[in-house]
Amino acid sequence: MKKVHSIDELFQLFADFGHKSYGEDVTSLMHSLQCAQLAANDGASDELIAAALLHDVGHLVADVQTGERADLEEDDDVHEAIGAQIVSPLFGPAVAQSIALHVTAKRWRCTVSPAYHDALSDTSRATLKAQGGLLTAEECERFEKHPGHAAALRVRDWDDLGKDPAMATAPLESYRPLLERLAQNFAASR
Ligand SMILES: [Fe+2]
Repeated sequence: MKKVHSIDELFQLFADFGHKSYGEDVTSLMHSLQCAQLAANDGASDELIAAALLHDVGHLVADVQTGERADLEEDDDVHEAIGAQIVSPLFGPAVAQSIALHVTAKRWRCTVSPAYHDALSDTSRATLKAQGGLLTAEECERFEKHPGHAAALRVRDWDDLGKDPAMATAPLESYRPLLERLAQNFAASR
C-alpha cells in the first residue's frame, strides 16, 4: 500500500501521473483541478475543496502499483478507499470521508435517479458496473443516514462536471496553503 507522508509527496503523484487520461477528454490533473475549482466557486469549505481536489488520488496511486489503469468494466481499483487511506493521515476524516464515499454517492444517485444514470458519461457508466452497480434498498438507506451523505453528494456533483477540456483552473500549487492549513489543524487536533 502506497503511503504519502507530505503535501510534497502528494503533489509529486500529480506530477508523475496527473498527465494520464481520466478516460474523458481531460487528464487526471485537469479533472482534479476542475473539481477543486468548482468546489471553490460554490463557496465550499476548505475540507470539501481539498476532498474535491484529492478525490481521485487513489487512481494515481493505483497507477503506481499496477503501472496502468485497469479495464474499466472488469476491475474496480477501489480508488475511493485507497484515496481515503492516503489522505486520512495527512488531513483527517473531514477530508477523507467524502473521498471514501464519493463512489457510493454515484451508486446512490444512479439507484434513485434512472435519468441521472442515463446521463452519465460513457466512462462513468462503464465504471459503475465495476464499482458494484446499483445499491440495494438497505444500502441506500444506510447511505442516506450517513452523516457524510450531503458532502459526498457535493463532491460527486463536481466530479460529474469536472470533465471540460476548455475550463480554466487555478494551478495545483495554489492549493498548497489550504492543504497546509488543513494538515496543521488536523495535527493540532490529535
Ligand atoms: Fe473523479
